[in-house]
Amino acid sequence: MQLLDGVGTAQRIQDRIREEAAALIPQRGRAPHLAAVLVGEDPASQVYVGSKVKTCEALGFGSTLIRRNAHTSEAELLQIIRELNADPEIDGILVQLPLPKHISENAIINAIDPAKDVDGFHPVSQGNMVLGQPTYLPATPFGIQLLLAEYGIDVSGKHAVVIGRSNIVGTPMSILLSRSGTGGNATVTLTHSRTQNLKELCLQADIIVAAIGKPRFVTADMVKEGAIVIDVGINRIEDASRKSGSRLVGDVDFDAVFPKCSYITPVPKGVGPMTICGLMMNTLKAWKAGA
Ligand SMILES: NC(=O)c1ccc[n+]([C@@H]2O[C@H](COP(=O)([O-])OP(=O)(O)OC[C@H]3O[C@@H](n4cnc5c(N)ncnc54)[C@H](OP(=O)(O)O)[C@@H]3O)[C@@H](O)[C@H]2O)c1
Repeated sequence: MQLLDGVGTAQRIQDRIREEAAALIPQRGRAPHLAAVLVGEDPASQVYVGSKVKTCEALGFGSTLIRRNAHTSEAELLQIIRELNADPEIDGILVQLPLPKHISENAIINAIDPAKDVDGFHPVSQGNMVLGQPTYLPATPFGIQLLLAEYGIDVSGKHAVVIGRSNIVGTPMSILLSRSGTGGNATVTLTHSRTQNLKELCLQADIIVAAIGKPRFVTADMVKEGAIVIDVGINRIEDASRKSGSRLVGDVDFDAVFPKCSYITPVPKGVGPMTICGLMMNTLKAWKAGA
C-alpha cells in the first residue's frame, strides 16, 4: 500500500505552473490574477480561501480577496460578479461555497463569465466537460485526475465506484473517469444515499472515490484487496488529545482501510492540496487564453 501524497504532488505541479507563468509574463505584461469572493464567516471557508490566496502568492500570481458579511444580498453579490467579469485584469473568479441560505448558489455561479469560471461550476463548463470539449474542469475531480496521473495510475478498464453525486465532486468525477480519453475509460458506478447495495458495489471496485461528508463512512469490509482509495471527505471530529479539541478525518476509515489497498489518499494532505492545484491550473489556462 502506498500513500498518494497530495502535498508533494501539488508542489511538483505548482513548480511547473510557476515556471510556465514566469516564462510568459514578459510577453503578457502581467501575472495571472485570481479573484476570490468570500461571503460570511464560516471558519472552514476562511481556511480554504486563505490557502488559495497563499498559493497564488507562492506561484507569483496576483490575487484579490473580496470579503462580504453574511447579510450581503444576492443583488450585491451579482454586482460584484459583473464587475469582476468586466475587469480585464482578472483572469479567474471563484466564489467560495457554501453561500448563506438567502443567496441562490445557482444564480451566482450562472452569473460568472464562463471564460473566467476557474472552479468549473458554470453550466457551460459542465456541459463542455460532459461533451469532452475544452473547458475548465471542476477543481476537485480535476485535481484527483492530476494526482492519479502523477503516480502513473491508469484507470482505463478499471471499475470505479464513486460515492456521492454532488455537482462539484461526485457527478463530475464520475463523468471524467468514464469519458473517453486520458484519465478516463473506467467503468463507473455512481452511488448516493438511495443506493441499496453499496457495500457489494464497493467490494467490486478497483477504485473507490468517497465524497460523502460522513466521517470514516467507508470501512475496511467495503474495500477489495488492492483497491485504490481516494478520500475526498473533510470532516472535523472531536479529539480530546488535541490542543484544539478536534481534528480532521476523511470519509474513509483510514487506519483500517490502509493495509488493504494499493494506494490511498490521506486526510488532510491528500485531495485538498490537489483541489487547489486544479484551481491554479485553470487560472493559468484562463490567463493564457486571454493573451
Ligand atoms: N478535499 C477537497 O478539496 C474537497 C472539495 C469539496 C468537498 N470536499 C468534502 O467532500 C465531502 C463531500 O462534499 P460534497 O460537496 O460532494 O457533499 P454533498 O453535496 O453534501 O454530497 C454528499 C453526497 O453524499 C451522498 N450520500 C450521503 N449519505 C450517503 C450514504 N449513506 N450512502 C451513499 N451516499 C451518501 C449524498 O447522496 P444524495 O445525493 O442522495 O443526498 C450526496 O450525493 C465533504 O466532506 C466535503 O467537505 C472536499
